[in-house]
Amino acid sequence: MSKIDVLLGLQWGDEGKGKIVDVLTPRYDIVARFQGGPNAGHSLEFGNIKHVLHIIPSGICHKDKINLIGNGVLVEPLILKKEVETLEQIGFEPKANLYVSKKAHLILPSHRMMDAASEQSKGSRKIGSTLKGIGPAYTDKVARCGLRVGSIFQNNFKELYCSARDAHFAQIKALGYSPEDFKIDNMSFSEYEKLWFESIDSLKALTIVDSEYFINEALENGKKILAEGAQGSMLDIDFGSYPFVTSSNTITAGVCSGLGVAPSKIGKVFGICKAYCTRVGSGPFPTELFDADGEKMRQEGREFGSTTGRPRRCGWLDIPALRYTCMLNGVTHLMLMKIDVLNSFEQIKICDQYEIEGKQTVKVPYDVEAKINPIYSSHKGWCQNIAGIKQFEQLPQQMKDYVHTIEEKLNLPVAIVSTSPNREDTIIKSEF
Ligand code: IMO
Ligand code: MG
Repeated sequence: MSKIDVLLGLQWGDEGKGKIVDVLTPRYDIVARFQGGPNAGHSLEFGNIKHVLHIIPSGICHKDKINLIGNGVLVEPLILKKEVETLEQIGFEPKANLYVSKKAHLILPSHRMMDAASEQSKGSRKIGSTLKGIGPAYTDKVARCGLRVGSIFQNNFKELYCSARDAHFAQIKALGYSPEDFKIDNMSFSEYEKLWFESIDSLKALTIVDSEYFINEALENGKKILAEGAQGSMLDIDFGSYPFVTSSNTITAGVCSGLGVAPSKIGKVFGICKAYCTRVGSGPFPTELFDADGEKMRQEGREFGSTTGRPRRCGWLDIPALRYTCMLNGVTHLMLMKIDVLNSFEQIKICDQYEIEGKQTVKVPYDVEAKINPIYSSHKGWCQNIAGIKQFEQLPQQMKDYVHTIEEKLNLPVAIVSTSPNREDTIIKSEF
């Protein structure tokens, strides 16, 4: 009997999860997504090509490994179809090793439209959603009126679809809009709906499974499984900066419900974090920079959304937030990403605690409106290009000091230091 290892983001998403899943896949038999949906944008880079995955797990470029879309994930069939086709065009055969849970819920075109209507109606309080229909589709799941992947095989699927769509249209009208007010990926509703329906046939052609049995039997047979998180722990529906969050449990607990594995079967938990912070969309971001340093991070780190193209907000590393998410997830190993982005900074800051209304604290406050003054320590930069270095020991001393400082502050070992988006530039600092 083996255990399932977990890899997830400790910040606000975009930590580099896709790259590390791709690097670790050779150690596993199965890679499984457990929550989120096409709001994710996981980038893998090798052979000078960048691949961006939204719904398909990031182990897909290893053809002998099974990639499973678990029951906790939201599937948008048209986006999935396009993703499969893009991979096929460059020579991969995703259909051969992609499995989809029967119990995963579907994102309908009208969910996407509702996302847009809901955001528009919120005005300045908008969440900054990726507009992929995540909130409305999870709402229907919890309200017990969602459609699942298994529903597509039912004779009355079309009927079920129409009644869900009509209910969504009524809700859009109740918000004061009409379905004609919105386009989906630059298409009218009826154009998009037609393509969406055609994509159902492609979904039917994939391997659809009872994923909870599949996963548990695989564990029983000693198979090695990696659960791939999407978004980040600070966007978790329960523990993130509510309401500026996504609509799923992005933390380790989500693996249990999103794949159907018992808590006792969770193995190692790899917490992925950048050497600084970014956030895309609205909501509190205590260490956000509005100066030249922030702009430099954005440029050097190419911090523009891989799902929406939006510029990401950038700031220094936030230890209270990281301590919080390491606690929530039971992180056993850290993986530190994009450290090369800090190559040209003379001083690097780390936020060690917050000051809120004159009081210092290391805890993340309940109130998203709280005015947080981050208290920083300053660390000397390495001011050096580190391209090509493969051993941790050979990195500049100041960089090693920065990594050790993070380990000390979080009381966790750093297992991997990533020095570029490329697969090859992955330094194993300590075995895991
Ligand atoms: P990956 O997996 C970064 C953010 C959105 C928005 C909020 C809610 O690539 O790290 P949603 O579409 O879920 O309703 O949006 O969450 N968000 C992400 N930010 N990376 C992601 O995924 C994200 N997925 C959602 O920007 O603020
Ligand atoms: Mg992303």
